Amino acid sequence: MSGHGTPIPMTSRPCGPLSGVADVPGDKSISHRSLILGALCVGETRITGLLEGEDVLDTAKAMRAFGATVTDHGGGEWSVQGVGVGGFAEPDQVIDCGNSGTGVRLIMGAMATCPISVTFTGDASLNGRPMGRVTDPLALFGTQAVGRAGGRLPMTLVGAAEPVPVRYTVPVPSAQVKSAVLLAGLNAPGQTVVIEKEATRDHTERMLQGFGAELSVAETEEGRVITLNGQPELQPQTIVVPRDPSSAAFPVCAAIITPGSDVLVPNIGLNPTRAGLFETLQEMGADLTFENMREEGGEPVADLRAKFSPDLKGIAVPPARAASMIDEYPVLSVVAAFAEGVTDMQGVKELRVKESDRIDAMAKGLRAAGVGVDEGPDWWKVTGLGHGNVPGGVTAESQLDHRIAMAFMVMGMATQKPMSVDDGSPIATSFPIFEPLMAGLGAQIVRANS
Ligand code: S3P
Repeated sequence: MSGHGTPIPMTSRPCGPLSGVADVPGDKSISHRSLILGALCVGETRITGLLEGEDVLDTAKAMRAFGATVTDHGGGEWSVQGVGVGGFAEPDQVIDCGNSGTGVRLIMGAMATCPISVTFTGDASLNGRPMGRVTDPLALFGTQAVGRAGGRLPMTLVGAAEPVPVRYTVPVPSAQVKSAVLLAGLNAPGQTVVIEKEATRDHTERMLQGFGAELSVAETEEGRVITLNGQPELQPQTIVVPRDPSSAAFPVCAAIITPGSDVLVPNIGLNPTRAGLFETLQEMGADLTFENMREEGGEPVADLRAKFSPDLKGIAVPPARAASMIDEYPVLSVVAAFAEGVTDMQGVKELRVKESDRIDAMAKGLRAAGVGVDEGPDWWKVTGLGHGNVPGGVTAESQLDHRIAMAFMVMGMATQKPMSVDDGSPIATSFPIFEPLMAGLGAQIVRANS
């Protein structure tokens, strides 16, 4: 597949101990939401620590196209002069969200109850992903959507001129769908209610409350019931974006599998709806410690220390934990390859509709590298070989997926022979400093075939 310009082959060679401090970039989910909610206020929102990856930069560009003034002050400091709830202007160009499902789905929600028409597109990965999961609930507000077969981008949405509020039970565990409905509900009169059976990341709820919306959450027999009062006057905020636990996962897992390693990852967001990987790693026997636990900007934060963990064992990962670590399964499957025994991952069908089919992408590369993988529609099992026993020595396809590329680069740090990926360019969507950061810890990643 192509879509990011010239492919960048990368190779990761077995390396000595990883050590030092890993300052990973800002949280991707919170960065997208900061820009979008900032655009929905009248007045200036200030953001520090914004992730300056391609996905978020595409959202910044989109917010400008809707009429907001988005300014990069340098060093992760940004400001947004918003247009207010319901104030989005009709863009005069197609909105290109690049690789980002979060970007396109949240922006669709935010424009769905404004009387404007917008055409969305993305790269080859995004244009293959299902959008019906968002446009179905948006239709309940009165929004119309016409796209390609199977609800794929490119797609045009005509916002509802007279939106009605909605009560919607999200049929798949998806924070993007939940967030799209809540953002659309902002400009509908009355109460919009979203019900999720399984809790997914709750940044939208927390941030809407922070911006002054009347939003309440009740845990009921039906599930998590979120009630939003429509047409609030959102108040501009000062936002400090915590560092991304999904990016932290890569240096943390690299330290766990690379002999002698000791790595500190400071200021990591540890919202419980995001922290499932770390619990899972500890159950597998990983040496992780959380230092300096605190709260910043309404989100729990800590400094995370990860050390080489010689006695990893395979475990069954509870399906109820899947939503809280959904982006971390690719790198978890790498750690599982270095554990003794089987790691069993159930209830994970959402992995098949991410930037790639992540079960397929990881299974192909792991098998080629000598690791046993069994899979079904919503489960997979990795049979670990134990430390020092994972052969490697192959080139895996990243399938336009940043997390697949980074997972195989982590794997190559502890395999017997180097691991390569055909294209590491998607890494820039979420972790643009991945290569220098890992090199600073002692990794040996080069831009070349093996
Ligand atoms: C995200 C939600 C998740 C996650 C994605 C970011 C978000 O997707 O995989 O990387 O910021 O809301 P789904 O909501 O589709 O599960």
